[in-house]
Amino acid sequence: MSNTETREWLINVRISLLILLAALMCLSTTANATELRLNPAKVKGIDACGECHKETVKAWKKTHHSTTFADMPRSDEAREIADKMGIKRIKSESDCLTCHFTVAKEKGKEKPIAGISCESCHSAGKDWIDIHSDFGGKDVKAENETPAHKVERYKKSEAAGMIRPGNLYALAKNCYSCHTVPNEKLVNVGGHEAGSNFELVRWSQGEVRHNLWYSDDNTEADLNRRRMLYVIGKMLDLEYALRGVAKATKKAQYAVAMAKRAKRALAFLKKIDKTVDNNELTKIIAIAKKAKVSLNNEAVLTKAANSISAQAKMFSDKYDGSTLSGVDGALPAPEKYRGTVFGE
Ligand code: HEC
Ligand code: HEC
Ligand code: HEC
Ligand code: HEC
Repeated sequence: MSNTETREWLINVRISLLILLAALMCLSTTANATELRLNPAKVKGIDACGECHKETVKAWKKTHHSTTFADMPRSDEAREIADKMGIKRIKSESDCLTCHFTVAKEKGKEKPIAGISCESCHSAGKDWIDIHSDFGGKDVKAENETPAHKVERYKKSEAAGMIRPGNLYALAKNCYSCHTVPNEKLVNVGGHEAGSNFELVRWSQGEVRHNLWYSDDNTEADLNRRRMLYVIGKMLDLEYALRGVAKATKKAQYAVAMAKRAKRALAFLKKIDKTVDNNELTKIIAIAKKAKVSLNNEAVLTKAANSISAQAKMFSDKYDGSTLSGVDGALPAPEKYRGTVFGE
């Protein structure tokens, strides 16, 4: 080769390498692309809910769910996790968005607008926000709504995706899908905690509590409801722990934490089963006992988790807590509730 030929050849090689590198970078961003929990185009945002739910927004602003928006990205711990994950900007295109932020589409662009918001738990509002608050026309007040319209309104709101307080399983499922931190790499590589020591009564009746619509008192959930929260919480804990083990690929921190979580949740459910006579609960225990909690068992564990989910949903729909007095001794006392209750 002449000198010019060699130079051209080198340039070509360099260009090819650049193209290859660019392609690889594209591939890796697609592989890491964040799976958002809500469709950004359907997210209305805190202010939209606040038009009518003023007190609730006030209560929410004091929670970690709200303050994480500003505080988390600034913390040293977050920077450390992000560095280990190879994430530059925590608030954009990162794995952190799924659980710490709410992303909305504004003027054609997706961006994080808040921490864990109303819609993270009640679902994105665009399709139901108008339906759920319409008592039957502009001039009709709550007290004049016909019973038939009310039934229809609730049905339509739920069909449009709203997660209402009555649907305990769906509501609580959200908590567990974040709080079990189902992301192996984030835990094993990033060093993020592998889920929290989450118990549904304790964690929902403290700072998160916002029973502020039907009265201003923000009273705790009543006894029957707390019984339901307690039992459904343990069912969901087991379901999500099994999903975690099912997806785990390495015998490392994440898999070990999920396996421990499954074992602990099952032990709690067995204890409850001794004091409560309940068909769905007994079935859930039998399903879990048959599924071997180990790596490389994805199909079996996922199937078990799905069956547990079906039973837990049924449990949530069928009971109101009045038959669950057997768990009263296990219900956490108010001083154990997590964080400060709004208004207290
Ligand atoms: C135009 C006023 C208005 C807006 C805006 C609004 N709501 Fe409501 N919301 C209401 C009214 C009125 C009720 C009471 C309905 C009832 O009594 O059944 C209510 C009830 C609720 C309930 C309890 C429903 C139940 O079944 O007990 C939830 C949850 C809720 N809203 C969430 C939201 C969220 C989340 C947003 C924002 C995406 C929002 N709301 C926006 C007026 C509004
Ligand atoms: C799968 C859900 C999930 C993802 C994804 C996630 N986190 Fe978290 N993170 C949580 C939960 C849940 C907690 C709260 C645990 C608790 O309080 O017990 C938390 C707590 C934290 C904390 C400690 C509390 C604080 O705000 O200082 C930091 C720091 C943190 N996460 C950083 C990150 C970073 C950085 C990313 C992205 C690389 C990330 N998280 C991704 C669920 C997640
Ligand atoms: C972390 C999840 C979560 C977030 C965030 C959240 N909610 Fe809720 N919401 C719940 C749960 C759980 C209940 C039922 C509580 C209970 O029974 O004690 C509920 C109940 C309600 C109710 C019924 C209240 C009543 O008086 O009976 C309304 C209205 C409501 N939420 C609106 C909102 C609005 C508006 C926001 C945002 C400012 C919001 N929620 C944020 C989980 C959440
Ligand atoms: C979209 C993900 C997500 C959902 C859904 C969610 N959480 Fe959280 N939650 C988090 C993250 C992330 C943190 C940590 C925030 C921080 O400190 O930076 C947190 C923090 C909390 C805290 C404060 C813990 C502390 O540090 O004292 C409580 C209590 C809590 N969550 C309860 C709940 C309950 C109850 C539900 C369901 C009704 C729920 N969360 C649903 C992600 C979520």
